[in-house]
Amino acid sequence: MIIAPSLLAANHGRFGDEAARAERSGAEWLHLDIMDGHFVPNISFGPEVVRAVRSRTRAFFDVHLMCSRPEILLEPFAKAGADEIIIHVELGSQVTPLLWKIKALNKKVGLAINPPTKMEEVLPHLAAIDLLLVMTVNPGFGGQPFISEMLPKIQQAAQWRREKRLNYRIEVDGGINFKTSVECARAGADTFVSGTGLFAHRNMRAAVAKMRKLVKAEQTR
Ligand code: DX5
Ligand code: ZN
Repeated sequence: MIIAPSLLAANHGRFGDEAARAERSGAEWLHLDIMDGHFVPNISFGPEVVRAVRSRTRAFFDVHLMCSRPEILLEPFAKAGADEIIIHVELGSQVTPLLWKIKALNKKVGLAINPPTKMEEVLPHLAAIDLLLVMTVNPGFGGQPFISEMLPKIQQAAQWRREKRLNYRIEVDGGINFKTSVECARAGADTFVSGTGLFAHRNMRAAVAKMRKLVKAEQTR
């Protein structure tokens, strides 16, 4: 399992220190939410912020593009230090060339699906990706409640992975806390993005350790 604190929930005046705090917490990844004010009704931060934060941590950078025109952003984020770039399946016919381009940039390839979108949309892309991100809130803002109706989508992702003998990671993002991380693990998720669920804790190390322990207990049940 992998835990990926989302920088969106950090103190925006101190991103460098917050990224270092996330690394010290024992989490393997850092999740970076990029919002363009068009694909989602909010704006977060751009490649220069990612570049600045890159110098403060060796964590794997999981860059989630909630953007209408990712084609103009792939190279800037790749150069800024992304290890993986996730685009959304809602981009339709653009998805295949975008996945190719991420791969050509030598980055891990991720595909995200929003709550209202049918799982069948990701089916044609499963063999081409390293990670499938099942959104468990409507993207745009941190701190929203987990949508439990997404659990069958996680089960479907895990079933397809078994049947097709693929090995993409199954990531969940939105409203992930101690309780919902366990529910997602039971459904088959292995990669857990959590913003407010982790950054809000003064002792983030203890919070990461607790989430890991709870998920591991569920996985070995
Ligand atoms: C939602 C973002 C998430 C967000 C999760 O638009 O994609 O990564 O930071 O935040 P929490 O964990 O607070 O729901
Ligand atoms: Zn995200």
